[in-house]
Amino acid sequence: MKQQVQEAKGKLGILIPGLGAVATTLIAGVEAVKKGLSQPIGSLTQTGSIRLGKRTDNRSPKIKDFVPLAELNDIVFGGWDVYEDNVYQAAMKAGVLDPHLLKAIQPELEALVPMKAAFDKNFVKNLDGTNIKEFDTRYNLALAVMEDIKNFKAAHNLDRVVMVWCGSTEIFHEAADIHDSLEKFEQALKDNDSRIAPSMIYAYAALKMGVPYANGAPNLTCDIPAMVELSKETNTPIGGKDFKTGQTLMKTILAPGLHARALGVQGWFSTNILGNRDGWVLDDPENFKTKEVSKLGVLEDILRPDLNPELYGDLYHKIRINYYPPRGDNKESWDNIDIFGWLGYPMQIKINFLCRDSILAAPIVLDLALFIDLAKRAGMSGIQEWLSFYFKSPQTAPGLRPEHDIFKQLIKLENTLRHMMGEDLITHLGLDYYEDTAGQS
Ligand SMILES: NC(=O)c1ccc[n+]([C@@H]2O[C@H](COP(=O)([O-])OP(=O)(O)OC[C@H]3O[C@@H](n4cnc5c(N)ncnc54)[C@H](O)[C@@H]3O)[C@@H](O)[C@H]2O)c1
Repeated sequence: MKQQVQEAKGKLGILIPGLGAVATTLIAGVEAVKKGLSQPIGSLTQTGSIRLGKRTDNRSPKIKDFVPLAELNDIVFGGWDVYEDNVYQAAMKAGVLDPHLLKAIQPELEALVPMKAAFDKNFVKNLDGTNIKEFDTRYNLALAVMEDIKNFKAAHNLDRVVMVWCGSTEIFHEAADIHDSLEKFEQALKDNDSRIAPSMIYAYAALKMGVPYANGAPNLTCDIPAMVELSKETNTPIGGKDFKTGQTLMKTILAPGLHARALGVQGWFSTNILGNRDGWVLDDPENFKTKEVSKLGVLEDILRPDLNPELYGDLYHKIRINYYPPRGDNKESWDNIDIFGWLGYPMQIKINFLCRDSILAAPIVLDLALFIDLAKRAGMSGIQEWLSFYFKSPQTAPGLRPEHDIFKQLIKLENTLRHMMGEDLITHLGLDYYEDTAGQS
């Protein structure tokens, strides 16, 4: 059944809380691509294709030619940060992209100045910016963010807006009774309850206005019943959490392979050195805890020690992130994986990934923004599990195990697009090819 998918008419605003390394790499990248200076590598929406129908049909259009997505030329960026740097200055400081490239798009980037942030230092101790909104209650703070969204939309004559959180990782906190329902959450906003994190203020403001929200950090934010309720009430899609980039990306590529071959895993030790502002924020143990929890779930959900105790029952999974300034954004990760095979004979795999965090994250932000806008136009609301492909810790319906295997996540994403457009889903059964041949012979 083809869903009613509205066309992507007019301009799309992408609002980003947190104009740091990831966000500036995305914005500069889109500007560079628009000017023909670079290629949008790593983005499914820009370069990916999708098979339709049978293998013999030879139909594999580009995803962007198959589903109606906003064009890069129709995107307008905006955002908030606790620091006053415009996007050009922030990108220069982040040190991810070549200064020559940034110079070529300097006027476009300088025009982008962050709005004052909704911030609470208790959630990110290692930041000391001053571009911050003053507030009496968190409810009024949320109203101020809604005002920002309204003004941004009007100023740029936008048709639609989406929000993608690229702000820092907040300290670890668990859902409390105030997060249980929308009514309790709104009361807590009015009571100025300090258990409401800044990221929740942005998410609440966005969802209240029907603006789709994707969460790029491991923060709790919209992973609470109150936000899911609000997203359903305003017919707004949500997705999260924590962009799946470097080491976890590799884990969700490799672990499904080991599991597929029924090879045992005794231990998986992962460590990183990272020297950007994200690394500095994560140097605080309370903020690291949020990231650690997000990263730890991956292996257990792929390997399922509960179903395969003889293969994964003793699995020891350890993750470390070390702040090391000389590396800047060019993270280096090491994985030592102790595996065993036939008759229990041990083997080892070593991965040394010299990656660039923001280079891997930027296309994810672009894809999420374009897909979550598509979801809204397709009449979808609430948790968008089909976007799990992009997240380390995918949000799912209560009681539902997340799917971490990147290949299954891609199948789900592609089938969702086929479903939206009224195409047959692909099951990979393939018996029909042989029935046809038998019939012809
Ligand atoms: N780069 C990656 O590969 C990757 C992968 C997964 C998740 N993430 C997450 O994405 C986020 C961004 O990463 P980054 O490398 O750009 O970090 P960054 O430190 O360079 O940028 C984050 C920005 O958010 C701002 N900020 C913090 N709280 C804010 C608030 N309440 N309102 C507005 N701005 C706020 C900070 O001032 C900072 O400029 C982090 O949470 C990070 O953990 C990054």
